Amino acid sequence: MSAAQNKDTPTTADTTKDGATKASAPATSAFVAACRGEKVDHVPVWFMRQAGRSLPEYRKLREGVPMLESCTRPDMVVEITMQPVRRYGVDAAIFYSDIVVPLKAIGVDLDIVPGTGPVVADPIRTVKDVERQLRDLTADDVPYVTESVRGLVSELKGTPLIGFAGAPFTLASYLIEGGPSRDHRLTKELMYRDRATWDALLGRLAKIAASFLRVQVQAGAQAVQLFDSWAGSLSREDYVTYVKPYAKQVLDAVADLGVPRIHFGVGTGELLQEMGDAGAEVVGVDWRVSLADAVTRVGKGRSVQGNLDPTVLFAPEDVMKKKATAVLEAGRQARGHVFNLGHGVLPATDPDALKRLVDHVHAFEVR
Ligand code: CP3
Repeated sequence: MSAAQNKDTPTTADTTKDGATKASAPATSAFVAACRGEKVDHVPVWFMRQAGRSLPEYRKLREGVPMLESCTRPDMVVEITMQPVRRYGVDAAIFYSDIVVPLKAIGVDLDIVPGTGPVVADPIRTVKDVERQLRDLTADDVPYVTESVRGLVSELKGTPLIGFAGAPFTLASYLIEGGPSRDHRLTKELMYRDRATWDALLGRLAKIAASFLRVQVQAGAQAVQLFDSWAGSLSREDYVTYVKPYAKQVLDAVADLGVPRIHFGVGTGELLQEMGDAGAEVVGVDWRVSLADAVTRVGKGRSVQGNLDPTVLFAPEDVMKKKATAVLEAGRQARGHVFNLGHGVLPATDPDALKRLVDHVHAFEVR
């Protein structure tokens, strides 16, 4: 029997008789179990950027609505978050929002430009800029996040929702550069030249990211992912000196909530151990490092998430399946494995290929 046939095992709520206390507590999902290194009946799978431009139903819904506006409309957030869950049967939903939403919410003048990414009107370069533009975030700044998460938890019927935030370094890179950057030259220049401004900026961003995660978990998100997407541009030494303490600050600040914490970045093969050590239960891995090596680097105390190259979805089906199976086999050596891509779904990806991949992962026998 394929493992996937067990997927719809009834929840605790459906089966126990001691109703009151357990009525709202579903049996641990495969996703949360894998994050914690507990036994699973199938390998859980979800995809970074599973909601978004690869889906025709997303493009249709977003017509004429700017990205950041869509993030403030709970009806749209719920629908867009649900779209890939319905279509693919993935084991987790990722909250539809963006890493810059909390910055916009506290008044930073920025926009998301289609095809480019976040663009900041007034880049941050001095302590004065930090103090003027960045204040603490509270739940009152993002009522639409609380409302959207609550709506999702009831729609999802037990499928876990992952909340997320951008990590301080990745947020800082947009704020300092004023937009996307290939080499992060201005970011690193500030980091090396002006430690006081750097510490003030990353300290504030850590508090904002932590608050954004707390709002999502308090409204019902069952896991969090901290995206330090661009941390892979740093040497291990610089990561440890300038960046890790702030990622740790964010992860520590949500430790008491008891939900799994996933820590991910692109091109972070040399940083995996440090990113785990910053305080995550799960380390996200991109495709440039083999998952077997990643498991060794992360160690037995943490789970891994990843790491199929997103372009493999454009390969012939037999190639795609073979490569996915290799990732699944390597994942067996980990404490727990959440299958994912090594970075986000590319906009041109055929949704049917993603569906075939989900089915392939679910058919893999766990031992
Ligand atoms: O499905 C999901 O993953 C959930 C939603 C999500 C979005 N952004 C929606 C989005 C998540 C988790 C993010 C995180 C995010 N945003 C990150 C970290 C993840 C990563 O990719 O490394 C980063 C670096 C950003 C900043 C950002 N926002 C970029 C680089 C872009 C793409 C710009 C472009 O047009 O190519 C965005 C815009 C964005 N965020 C889109 C979506 C669905 C596309 C908006 C559109 O429809 O035009």
